[in-house]
Amino acid sequence: TRTIKLAVIPGDGIGPEVIEQANRVLDAVLDGGDVVLERTEFKLGAERFLETGDTLPEAEQAAIAEHEAILFGAVGGVPGDPRLKTANIERGLLLKLRFDFDHYANVRPCALVPGVVSTLANPGEVDFVVVREGTEGPYAGNGGRLRPGTPAEVATEVSVNTAYGIERVVRYAFQVAESRPRKTLTWVHKTNVLVHAGATWQRIVEAVAAEHPGIAVDYMHVDAATIHMVQNPSRFDVIVTDNLFGDILTDLAGAIGGGIGLAASGNINPDGTFPSMFEPVHGSAPDIAGKQLADPTAAILSAALMLDHLGLAADGDRIRAAVRSDLAGATDRGDAPRSTTAVGDAVIAQLPARA
Ligand code: NAD
Ligand code: IPM
Ligand code: MN
Repeated sequence: TRTIKLAVIPGDGIGPEVIEQANRVLDAVLDGGDVVLERTEFKLGAERFLETGDTLPEAEQAAIAEHEAILFGAVGGVPGDPRLKTANIERGLLLKLRFDFDHYANVRPCALVPGVVSTLANPGEVDFVVVREGTEGPYAGNGGRLRPGTPAEVATEVSVNTAYGIERVVRYAFQVAESRPRKTLTWVHKTNVLVHAGATWQRIVEAVAAEHPGIAVDYMHVDAATIHMVQNPSRFDVIVTDNLFGDILTDLAGAIGGGIGLAASGNINPDGTFPSMFEPVHGSAPDIAGKQLADPTAAILSAALMLDHLGLAADGDRIRAAVRSDLAGATDRGDAPRSTTAVGDAVIAQLPARA
């Protein structure tokens, strides 16, 4: 029996609701096999901050680091809550984990499967993956405010781009492209305006591309990429891009792939020095929290990505097969929209037997 130590951070809002279903599906898919999950739950997020004033205590971060993987729900309080004015849950918790655990490859697949209605009228075949740089760019936190609160206030937010950081994510994206049949990689930036970072990205992409003659490489400015993603998403296979562009493009991709409730992600530390972290692309959705209205599919598919990463791709495939048959309508949906738990039940009911 292999025991896998899993850190679970359900978080805020719909986070705990969707993670509950992901955990049920994980238990069901691993049932009868020789893998056992040993879970530790960490109560972190806006709610914890409001109770104790903690964002990510050092001892808890060290404890999380002792796990093989992290399953993360979503964090963030109700926007505008005055009590959270001094908190920075997103930077102090989520980004701190991504940065400190060196999650440099933020992998966000987008595939439109039968039965799912895209936001687009004529989406065509959609099956691409965005590899978003996860540790630098405009997210680095390099900036500040001078003379805050005065008419002379100056705010800077400086994008940090290192050759080291770019090269490792670009190499990762080429590997992903090598593993896929279409062998196409689109790198997305804004080289016409962000000329400094753009030139470094270009130099590195071209150098790495030379080592991958079998991969067709093209470039798009990020604004144009949003046009192509909406007008002809089938043209994309693998996209590699900067942290902020990747954030924005993957919410758009979520909508194209049938809704943000289906969009999964992995924050990968490919070197294996730190635990990788798997989470839905969406946030804590305070507008629907506590009502059993959240779609847990994104969290369930994130759990499947986690199994792939842990060397259990056959079980990840079984989860994806169950989700696909659920989405294709194999599950009786009745008239009313399904509750979060009902979607979990349906996916479990569709799990194929172990091969
Ligand atoms: P959001 O993703 O939480 O919600 C955007 C919209 O999508 C809302 O209308 C919401 O109801 C809907 N939605 C999201 N997930 C859904 C699901 N599973 N099923 C059905 N509908 C779903 O984004 P937001 O409103 O910009 O952010 C809310 C809070 O979450 C903020 O505090 C933000 O910082 C935080 N956030 C956290 C993460 C994360 O933890 N990874 C990601 C994004 C946003
Ligand atoms: C995401 C979120 C996060 C991001 C926020 C909450 C820090 O939007 O995971 O896409 O910007 O990366
Ligand atoms: Mn986002």
